[in-house]
Amino acid sequence: MLDETILKNHGQEHLLEYCKLMSQSEKEQLELDINRLDLDEIDALYKEVYLNRKPIEVAEDVEQVNYDKKENLDDKTLKEYKSLGINAIKEGKFAVLLMAGGQGTRLGHKGPKGTFTFNDKSLFERQAEQLRQLVEETGTPIHWYIMTSDVNHKDTLAYFLEKNYFDYDESYIHFFKQDHIVALTTEGKLILDTDKHIMHTPNGNGGVFKSLENNKILSEIKELGIEYLFLNNIDNALVKVLDPEFVGYTVEHNADVTTKSIQAHPGEKVGRLVSIDGKKQVLEYSELSSEDVDRLQNANIGIHVFKVDFLIESASKALPYHLAIKKLKQLDEDFSVVEVESLKFELFYFDIFQYAQSFSTLQVDRNKEFSPLKNKEGQDSIETAKRDLEINHLL
Ligand code: UTP
Repeated sequence: MLDETILKNHGQEHLLEYCKLMSQSEKEQLELDINRLDLDEIDALYKEVYLNRKPIEVAEDVEQVNYDKKENLDDKTLKEYKSLGINAIKEGKFAVLLMAGGQGTRLGHKGPKGTFTFNDKSLFERQAEQLRQLVEETGTPIHWYIMTSDVNHKDTLAYFLEKNYFDYDESYIHFFKQDHIVALTTEGKLILDTDKHIMHTPNGNGGVFKSLENNKILSEIKELGIEYLFLNNIDNALVKVLDPEFVGYTVEHNADVTTKSIQAHPGEKVGRLVSIDGKKQVLEYSELSSEDVDRLQNANIGIHVFKVDFLIESASKALPYHLAIKKLKQLDEDFSVVEVESLKFELFYFDIFQYAQSFSTLQVDRNKEFSPLKNKEGQDSIETAKRDLEINHLL
């Protein structure tokens, strides 16, 4: 039985109304779902992240993160980085981590975003192909960790199986799921998903560190002698996975975090890599004054290498939840499927930068290395990704 008083105390009595439309087994399922929740914690989260959210503050005393520009490096240096990189991969010092747990709400593609194809080749296949070539070149297997979430785990596994793991050695591909957190209506009400469960959504790409820890992956890779973890998104069509030059740059600098960046266009809405009181951060366009937006053009593109020791030390440190308002498919009070703007709570992986003692950045050519697939059309869309793949002779 659902406890009416508890639900009322937490403003969740609408669930009792849902119950009236449910079969006995559905009611039992809902009860189980609710018993697993910490309603006090959910109240606190709603208050902190939504109700008491502050107007966006413009950061002061923001400094540019120091960075090297790849275009200023001469051929000799680049060659040295490449050979250093290939040797490090040969020695088994690097593993790769792909973050593919997102819902891809803006793209609206049916299935995991990684299954989106350009010329019959999916984003997953493009990344697998690059790693396969590196394995061939170095003669060394590379562990590939792939983070999924409840929304796409089954489909992702089925896709890899169907495609025979793109001829990548299956025993070196490791899927793991990130954690989830409830989504809420703007009034702070719990939502029913289309399976009549309390809706949970992936807890943001910053959930990656806890999930690595919970799945014992960090201790496992440490035992394997892996020293660095290369991390990238699924949706950069031009990503160079474990690019040997960047790997060499990383080994040479040996920082807790090594980052690839690009030069933002004036006014471009991409996060800037900045330092405030010595702590590294990524600040959104909206968190910077217009002068700073123009002054700080070194932008984050979600390509990083983390030292494994740094991750072991920092994975359980606190990261803040951010608010994302997104259209989520759900049941209304008549159990019809509707899409409504709802509150998602997301951790961002780059909030871990604040714990890094050392940080190096290599700025690369955006035209060759950055083309995010976020939207159906317009900016960062299917059309722009296709264009960029064509320009780079990758289609
Ligand atoms: P985005 O933050 O752009 O989100 O992801 P998204 O899910 O792809 O798309 P929208 O915002 O719903 O339209 C950037 C990267 O972080 C991963 C994504 O898979 C992508 O590689 N990500 C995002 C996760 O792994 N988990 C999450 O919870 C969110």
